[in-house]
This record gives sequence, structure tokens and C-alpha cells, in this order.
Amino acid sequence: MTPAIFAENLGRTYKDKVALEGLNLEIPRGEVYGLLGPNGAGKSTTVRILCTLLLPTSGRAMVAGYDIVDHPTEVRLRIGAALQATAIDGLQTGREMLSLQAQLYNVKPAVAKKRIAELEALIDLGSDFDKRVSTYSGGMKRRLDIATAILHRPPVLFLDEPTTGLDPRSRQQMWDEVRRLNEQLGVTILLTTQYLEEADFLAHRLGIINDGRLVAEGSPLELKRTVRDDIVVANIKGDAREAEGPLAAIRGVKSVSALGERIEARVTDGAQAIGHVAIAIQQAGLELADITLRTPTLDDVFMELTGGHITEDEHEPVH
Ligand SMILES: Nc1ncnc2c1ncn2[C@@H]1O[C@H](COP(=O)(O)OP(=O)(O)OP(=O)(O)O)[C@@H](O)[C@H]1O
Ligand SMILES: [Mg+2]
Repeated sequence: MTPAIFAENLGRTYKDKVALEGLNLEIPRGEVYGLLGPNGAGKSTTVRILCTLLLPTSGRAMVAGYDIVDHPTEVRLRIGAALQATAIDGLQTGREMLSLQAQLYNVKPAVAKKRIAELEALIDLGSDFDKRVSTYSGGMKRRLDIATAILHRPPVLFLDEPTTGLDPRSRQQMWDEVRRLNEQLGVTILLTTQYLEEADFLAHRLGIINDGRLVAEGSPLELKRTVRDDIVVANIKGDAREAEGPLAAIRGVKSVSALGERIEARVTDGAQAIGHVAIAIQQAGLELADITLRTPTLDDVFMELTGGHITEDEHEPVH
């Protein structure tokens, strides 16, 4: 069976800026594939090329069995896309937007009515559904975007940062919907995200992308297993940087990073190291608030591959 999405040596250069380079992808039908990477990594560039909105400057790609450059119309008929920056016509209401989408894709009126009613419950706009889109908040527009992308039941769906800007409750609803679309309707989904938790929760397989290149690929669990270390996390009453030196000196500690009152030490054997870490902190004259052990997260994987964090503000442990 041909894969739902296939890319070979795909690349895009803007003048002298290489936004994407040498991307190879093979996403089988029915998979949820996540592209995880920081700002500017090349996620939107990839999605826009695969949706036929941007021409690649090298390589080739097939989506739903058609070449994106030679047969863009065939591709477009078979995909749905909720992109990062969409030009929503603010003068229409949410309901009108969905009706228009149904007409564009020749969805029969009776079917469209039923689907719009279902989507109305999902996007949860209440009476705002019949108000002009120009009055919507960012999160409301986002939810409408996604409803628009799935109304015609495309076999392949692209979601570029689907939950950025959503509150936790809306994010959870969106996750449930992505899962439902995939599990019940068999939709193949390529989504991009900067959220580790989202990638971990939704994606069957992940590609980690940084600076225009795919640097790792695998299931979330496989990727996390590539980091063989444990992480000791200590909270200190005071500046955690004061503990950096003493912790780095402990045998078995591979690296130390401090942020505010929190310090993390990567160690080969967590159970063995945790006591030594606690003692070293006390011997340095610092007061320990708590100390725990955690297994590697996708951020640790990213850190190992690139030396940086995916997002500056997200350091919550995810397992
Ligand atoms: N039209 C353009 N002209 C020049 N450079 C561009 C253009 N569009 C994107 N870029 C550059 O290409 C790189 C990749 O951008 P892209 O939008 O694909 O990243 P991203 O992973 O989607 O980032 P974000 O998380 O911020 O959405 C960035 O360095 C960006 O500045
Ligand atoms: Mg983007």
C-alpha cells in the first residue's frame, strides 16, 4: 500500500536561508505522525509544502498517492489542513464558514448539516457560532480552523501547531478529537507541535526537527529509551546554581543544569546517585526542599541531540 505521506530529500531554501533540508518521510495510512521542534525548525515549511501551498526547492513528495508538484489539485481534494496563519474571512459567522467549506468540497447538504451539528459540539462556541469570526478570540478561531479542516472528512489531515494558544480544557478536547478522527475514521494525521506532552500523547511516531533537519525519528518511547540516563531533580531553598559545582563533582553525574531553585543532574544510575546528590547539597551549606528521580523526557532527547531545549518555558516532566 502506498504510504499516505512520502517525502524524499525534500528541501526548501528562501534566498540564502535553508528552511528545510534532506527530509525523508514515510507515513503509512492510519498513523498519527508528530513533527516536534522549536521555533523556526522548519515545521510550517514542511506542512506548507506537503499541502501544496509552497513549492519545494529540492526533492519530491507524494500525499494520498499523488505528487504534490505534478498533481496539486488531486492532493488538495484528499487533504484537510489547519495551518498556523490562516486568512479567515472575518465577516462570516463560524456556521457560515463551515457551510461554505461543505459546498467547496461538494458535501451533500443533509450530510453537511449533520456534520456541522457534530462539529458545533466539538468546537464549543455556544452562541458565538452565529457571530462574525472577526469577534472570535485566537483560541476560538483555532477551533473553527480545525473544524473546517475536517468537515469534508479528508483521509489525510495536516495540523500545524493545533493547540498553540488554547487553554488546557480546549487542548484536551482537541487531543480527544485528534484521537477519535484517527481511531474511528482512520484519518492519517501529520501534526506539528512544540509541546512535548502533546507529541508524547498523540503521536504514534515522532520526527524531531531542528534547524531544517530531521534529527531523530521513532515512537515517543523509543526516542526516550535512546537516553539511557536517569535524572535526579532537586529543589533547593535558594539559588540552585550554587549546587552546580558540588553536583558536577560527584562520580556518575554526567551533566548538571540549574534553573531558579531547581537543579537537575543526569546520572547513569539514579537509585545510586540520589543519596550522593542529597549529601552534596547539604555539604555545600544549602537547604534541600525535595529531591526526586525521573526518567528521560522528550526534552532530554532533544537536549542530547541538539544541546538546547525545545521550548524555554516547558520543563515539566513527561513520561
Ligand atoms: N517566506 C520566508 N522567507 C524567508 N525565510 C523564511 C520564510 N518562511 C520561513 N522562513 C524561515 O525558515 C525557517 C523555518 O521556518 P518555519 O516557519 O518552517 O519554522 P517552524 O518550525 O514552523 O517555526 P514556528 O514554531 O515558529 O512556527 C525559519 O528560519 C524562518 O525564519
Ligand atoms: Mg510554524
